[in-house]
Amino acid sequence: MGKEWKRTISGTNHPQLRPIVDYELGCCLPTEEWIHLNGTAIFQEPGLLKYVSRFPPPALMRDVSGLTNEADCASHGAEFFRVLSESSAKPLTEYRSILDFGCGCGRLARMFKGHPHRVCDSDVDHRHVAWMKENLSYMDVRLNSVRPPIPYADEEFEAIFGISVFTHLNERTQDQFLEELRRVCARDGRLFLRSHVKRALARAMQGPAILNVLSVSATALQESNATFCDGRLAFILQEGHLTSRRPKGAVVPPVTASSLSRTSTGYPLFLKVT
Ligand SMILES: C[S@@+](CC[C@H](N)C(=O)[O-])C[C@H]1O[C@@H](n2cnc3c(N)ncnc32)[C@H](O)[C@@H]1O
Repeated sequence: MGKEWKRTISGTNHPQLRPIVDYELGCCLPTEEWIHLNGTAIFQEPGLLKYVSRFPPPALMRDVSGLTNEADCASHGAEFFRVLSESSAKPLTEYRSILDFGCGCGRLARMFKGHPHRVCDSDVDHRHVAWMKENLSYMDVRLNSVRPPIPYADEEFEAIFGISVFTHLNERTQDQFLEELRRVCARDGRLFLRSHVKRALARAMQGPAILNVLSVSATALQESNATFCDGRLAFILQEGHLTSRRPKGAVVPPVTASSLSRTSTGYPLFLKVT
């Protein structure tokens, strides 16, 4: 009661045929409505902006993802939400506790506005954590270190998401944090991790646009591709956003074994660990 009712603009353009949707429901809306609101409708009707989470400032957005505008940030977040919803055995709103590990400035976390249960986030970068705390106050956001532990209790989360975080870890740190995520994941919980695999690599090698966002050289990428095609992992130092403190130009030598599975399709990888 007392909620404002709005007409959704998805599905049809005819006003009298539009279904009525309560945008106050946030991510409890039907998934397609929530995705449409976040990815499209707010840019067509700015009055709808009040129903979605705030956007991070461009500088922070670029630092985290290489993106520079709200529309791209919104469509990425909406697409993550869609893929995760499709990958999950139950609606994301039914998990009673969720963690967005390596949340950045909330590209995915923004989509959890209106979640009926506990939503937590952690990141290693204090600037990301500070922005999240101030602007997405309905979440519990904490800073973690470059080494475990993550500041949450054993088996605390029914679902854990890690979007493009393991992409940035070397093999040793990756293994440490995989083990740590297992610790904070409930026994029957689900762990959803996204990493770049063959399709992303192929797209990056097609031209300068993605190479520029990644801030890596074409040569380094080609060498790494050869290593990757040989069944091994390869690491390249990024020189742009998210650059580590390693000496400029340093390339970590390829390593062999990995605890991460690979998809045969080459599409973004989601691991489910029980
Ligand atoms: C490419 S960004 C992705 C951010 C966010 N998941 C998204 O999709 O927008 C990688 C994020 O991982 C964070 N990160 C890197 N190493 C981390 C670690 N060991 N623990 C937690 N966060 C980490 C970075 O600070 C950054 O925010």
